[in-house]
Amino acid sequence: MDQIILRSAAGPLSGSVTPPPDKSISHRALFFAALNRGRTVLQNISIAADPLATRNLLESLGYGFVQEGGALVKAAGAAHQYAAHQYAVHGELSLHCGNSGTTARLACGFLTGERGTFVLIGDDSLSIRPMERVAAPLREMGGVVATTDGRMPVRVDASHPVSDRVMLMEAASAQVHGALFLAGLRSKGGVLIRRTKPMRDHTIRLAGAFGLETPYTDDNGMPIDEVVAATIDRDVELRIPGDLSSAAFFVVAALIVPDSDITITGVGLNPTRIAFLEALREMGAKVHWHATGDDAEPVGEIHVQHSGMMRGIDLGERVHVGTVAQMMDELPLLALVGSQVAGTTTVRGAEELRVKESDRIAATARLMRSLGVVVTELPDGFEVTGPQEVVGGGAIDHEGDHRLAMVAAVAALIARAPVTIPDPDVAAVSYPGFWTQLEAIAPGVIKGAV
Ligand code: S3P
Repeated sequence: MDQIILRSAAGPLSGSVTPPPDKSISHRALFFAALNRGRTVLQNISIAADPLATRNLLESLGYGFVQEGGALVKAAGAAHQYAAHQYAVHGELSLHCGNSGTTARLACGFLTGERGTFVLIGDDSLSIRPMERVAAPLREMGGVVATTDGRMPVRVDASHPVSDRVMLMEAASAQVHGALFLAGLRSKGGVLIRRTKPMRDHTIRLAGAFGLETPYTDDNGMPIDEVVAATIDRDVELRIPGDLSSAAFFVVAALIVPDSDITITGVGLNPTRIAFLEALREMGAKVHWHATGDDAEPVGEIHVQHSGMMRGIDLGERVHVGTVAQMMDELPLLALVGSQVAGTTTVRGAEELRVKESDRIAATARLMRSLGVVVTELPDGFEVTGPQEVVGGGAIDHEGDHRLAMVAAVAALIARAPVTIPDPDVAAVSYPGFWTQLEAIAPGVIKGAV
């Protein structure tokens, strides 16, 4: 599809939506499955482009996954033999990470435990994203990881496993934490990782599902995780929950389209991921959630209703408790919500947004402006005062960023004039099936697709 034209919702949104499988958990489940000498059965693994990049990378290394019914299975077997074989064949292996920052960062850590020399590359957007954040601490651990002026290509020469037990104080992101964790599992001595701010904890939960305990000590409220070198050898079956960051698009859609009332099912409700829902509730949203099960990760339902006039929120004060970091992927949506509520919404401490798939601070402000909404860019966030009308009436530019394309689609539901979204397939980076689900929950909004 070249483009899609969306008109505003003709009536309330109703029904239920099951979001696609969680991307963060899928990446990690694939890496742990590769390390597992036992059999791993992954139910509901993501087929979005990003986790597929991780699967492709692991398959290039010789780790075999097969589809059995609805599940992706990695058979039992000593994983390192595959890699040794690949190394003998290729000498140096070039690995393409597509658009996926999580693939690239986690792979840097994982590859330190492989045998061989690897060169990580990515698409145009990934190629300009910072890689030293993960390369530097891995080098500190003894890994041989070299970036190209801080970016890709990244060369990981992993013929020597990382050694020594090192205290790393600056693991600033969940991707970096995951990389160090994966490196630690195949290091000589293990690694101590200090989490410098609250972050999603999927790596630790998945390690637990694969039989690994991660003891931690509390360092002034921040955990220091103790990762010891370990062999994973057990049969594991896991079901990946739905992705809360994907569900967030429909949560916001229901909040802003009058009289809407929808239920989101099978969604992951990990406490380190629900900060966005908590912020919405504080803004006056009628949004409720409850867990219905827990299989390594809590999973459950979200019920959301159109919420009348909500109020702005100041997230500037929360920088230090991590709330902003824990809703990083949902922040562009908050710019849209902020434009529909009374008063000012302020986001600070979100400079990480500038190095996502796009400079998401600048690109969000530009996107909203093209929809007729004023969002003020701040160095580390943004400010928006509502209520404002979403005008629409032309083509937006999502700048190749999947999340911005979907923000524009949600905004289009309340726009005065139709909104044209070029290259809508970009949504499949995280949300295959997004447009079909949008049409199901808001019949008639898709005016045309070419
Ligand atoms: C992710 C962590 C977050 C998030 C990204 C996925 C992960 O980034 O924005 O989409 O799976 O670890 P940080 O590494 O900046 O926390």
